[in-house]
Amino acid sequence: MTHTDLQRTLGVCYYPEHWPESQWAEDAARMAALGLTWVRIGEFAWSRLEPQPDRLDFDWLDRAIDTLGKAGLKVVLGTPTAAPPRWMLDRHPDMLAHDREGRPRGFGSRRHYDFAHQGYRRDCARIVDLLARRYGRNPHVAAWQTDNEYACNDTVVSYSPVALAAFRNWLAQRYQSPDALNRAWGNVFWSMDYASFDEVGLPNLTVCEPNPAHVMAFRRFASDMVVEFNRVQADIIRKHSDAPIAHNYMGQITDFDHYAVAADLDIAAWDAYPLGFLSDRLAASADHKRRFVRQGDPDFQAFHHDLYRAVGRGRWWIMEQQPGPVNWAPWNPDPLPGMARLWAWEAFAHGAEAVCYFRWRQAPFAQEQMHAGLLRPDSAPAPAHDEVAQVARELAAMPNQGTAQARVGLVFDYASAWAWETQPQGRDFSYFRLVFETYVALRRLGLSIDILPPDTADLSGYSLVLAPGAATLSDNLLSALGRYAGVSVLGPRTNCKTVEFATPVPLPPNLPGLAATVARVESLPPDVPVPLAGGGQFRAWREKVETGDAVVVATADGWPALIRGQGNLHYLCGWPDADTWLHLLRPLCKAAGLETVTLPDGLRRRDAGGVTFHFNYGAEPVDWNGLHLPPAGVIWTATP
Ligand code: GAL
Repeated sequence: MTHTDLQRTLGVCYYPEHWPESQWAEDAARMAALGLTWVRIGEFAWSRLEPQPDRLDFDWLDRAIDTLGKAGLKVVLGTPTAAPPRWMLDRHPDMLAHDREGRPRGFGSRRHYDFAHQGYRRDCARIVDLLARRYGRNPHVAAWQTDNEYACNDTVVSYSPVALAAFRNWLAQRYQSPDALNRAWGNVFWSMDYASFDEVGLPNLTVCEPNPAHVMAFRRFASDMVVEFNRVQADIIRKHSDAPIAHNYMGQITDFDHYAVAADLDIAAWDAYPLGFLSDRLAASADHKRRFVRQGDPDFQAFHHDLYRAVGRGRWWIMEQQPGPVNWAPWNPDPLPGMARLWAWEAFAHGAEAVCYFRWRQAPFAQEQMHAGLLRPDSAPAPAHDEVAQVARELAAMPNQGTAQARVGLVFDYASAWAWETQPQGRDFSYFRLVFETYVALRRLGLSIDILPPDTADLSGYSLVLAPGAATLSDNLLSALGRYAGVSVLGPRTNCKTVEFATPVPLPPNLPGLAATVARVESLPPDVPVPLAGGGQFRAWREKVETGDAVVVATADGWPALIRGQGNLHYLCGWPDADTWLHLLRPLCKAAGLETVTLPDGLRRRDAGGVTFHFNYGAEPVDWNGLHLPPAGVIWTATP
């Protein structure tokens, strides 16, 4: 096992432009006294940096950075491009993103720009260049953040006239001729052939479903626009600064290829709002949501920590950590005392370099006045304040400790998320959910997991590798699987589409060393499970697979459920429910030489290379294996 030494740090998000300047020095002193290292500023300040077109006012930012830096804090400087000021619309009246109905999204909040708009991109390049030249060598500016939360509020896929023109251009480059596009998409179907790229429209407002290949191309285009938009900023910053560049990604957002954006950056950060996510986006039973209402799901954050460690090629942060009730979820409960501490330690156990809380002081005005901070609007400490102080003390006493390479690898692929949104075939088929449920099962078995990008070329460090639902396996991954001696589990729905979203013939899954053909697939409503012969069940999705290889588990109606090919490659022919996952994975882990346990509901652990952490997400104390954890308890011990 390898582990790298890590300096773990804490920070906070701060908006000097929201407060009188007379308050900055005291705020900075209190942050430093709390044990914070980082303060992120600036990401929505464009209207105060450039109140009128080309009339700049950076003096206040000079003073803010100076005040924070002199208090001993390191500044993360955000580029302000997520919040273009109102005058920008007069300069670029066609810059607004458009929704699926083709309506422009209005001014009055944020993120209203279209990623494909060249004029807006030029203005972004201009403001980023001004910031990078002015602060690139400032000793207090120790990291950068590009924009803020790409994709927030459904803003990546835009159906604007600007996007249409850029899409046609993108298609011309990808396919070179309309004939090639027609062949790739299968446009002979329903007489959809195009004679020129200028005839191609956006895949919204069609009478019934558009061609899925058209939708997939549009999703790839939309993702590429984010990559290009981000690259413009990263390239400029790098010319003037050696400080690392981050972006703050989100939870359960798959609208663009995060690996591709991250290739131009140094650090993957993400914004962790455990209670908001549980209430707002987690697919779970009402009972589960009730049990974890003040703690958040025990695996949702961990999954993203592992995902963003992969996205950041090892370097990752939490840029925004929930400190109390938020304002944006259907319900916004108060965290159980101790959770602001537990969430931070779960992140550190997964290798986070920094955990920054959102935000320093709760704003008494505008959209987020109901969103807690570390301080109340009257500057008195809010409950999370003292928990952060505790984490700071604990960090000071803790030797620097990195993360370890896990022995289990789980592939996560953004294009597969687009594929199954484009053609789910069953109403509740969700790629994110399939991979996440696989992750939950592995974690309940006490395992630590690495997320693997879809072009991973070397699996040799892993004992067990899984790639459920990966629509098109890359050449790299296919040849790595061909060479791999450990246990692998592919399926359901793995490698069943070409890059252009057609069904390959010979029929899927076409995996090395596996003699199997998916002859028929079916999706099923939630109350129609498929029982397995030895107990357990598939839900939502099952495949009828013809095979000459060993059938390890069968369905009660006599079809293969788990097939073992030559060597250790397995194909799973359906979507197991939570208990069935545990039941199927235990023997596979054993074959892989991995020891498993079954952790009690709410207890989770993470092996961080020499140190094993246990976390109690339950609202009740838990006793397990000689350990006693209070509600929201965290324990770390030397790994036996
Ligand atoms: C994030 C965003 C922050 C703030 C926060 C509130 O999505 O990056 O600016 O709005 O949510 O929870």
